[in-house]
Amino acid sequence: MSRRNYVNEINFVTGNKHKLEEVKHILEPYGISVKRVTVDKLEIQSNDLCEIAEYSAKIVAERLRIPVVVEDAGLFIEALNGFPGPYSSYVFKTIGNEGILKLMRGVKNRRARFVSAVAYARPNGFVKVFIGVTEGLISIEPRGEYGFGFDPIFIPYEGDGRTFGEMTLDEKSRISHRGKAFRSLAKWLTGH
Ligand code: IMP
Repeated sequence: MSRRNYVNEINFVTGNKHKLEEVKHILEPYGISVKRVTVDKLEIQSNDLCEIAEYSAKIVAERLRIPVVVEDAGLFIEALNGFPGPYSSYVFKTIGNEGILKLMRGVKNRRARFVSAVAYARPNGFVKVFIGVTEGLISIEPRGEYGFGFDPIFIPYEGDGRTFGEMTLDEKSRISHRGKAFRSLAKWLTGH
């Protein structure tokens, strides 16, 4: 059952301040404010970002008894059969951008995509997932000081050749996986 609420605030479960900043910026034009919620780590192991976001959101909404939003995102590199994908967080912490570039040394096919799965859950068990995808290329060298994570090594096709790391928060959000997924959520929440 789907119920549209004309919601003007979301409870966003995240420990990542960069994501929080991006989501606030993305939702501002819709008149939706973002309240940060932090909880103990509860991610399940799965190869599917949607499944991870959906499950986590459901559990937290039931536990806290409030509607919540959880995002799970990842970078999928074609030549590496989708690696690091759902393991992006761990891979970034361990081998980082330098490690990815090392794995990609001499690799001609540099196609990659960022995927964002955003799950909105209510305490009654209702869940809805929104997906955003941005296609691009893995750069040869890291470039740019903006953003976080793999931003300095990802060149979106929808851009002008700069990496996400060379774009301002506004420029990145217009074309990013997160921008697309959260704008879909915003439209749904506000009944557009
Ligand atoms: P999470 O599991 O959704 O927190 O994201 C997994 C990891 O993917 C993060 O720790 C980042 O390293 C990377 N990541 C997710 N979204 C982005 C992004 O927008 N830019 C760069 N890296 C990202």
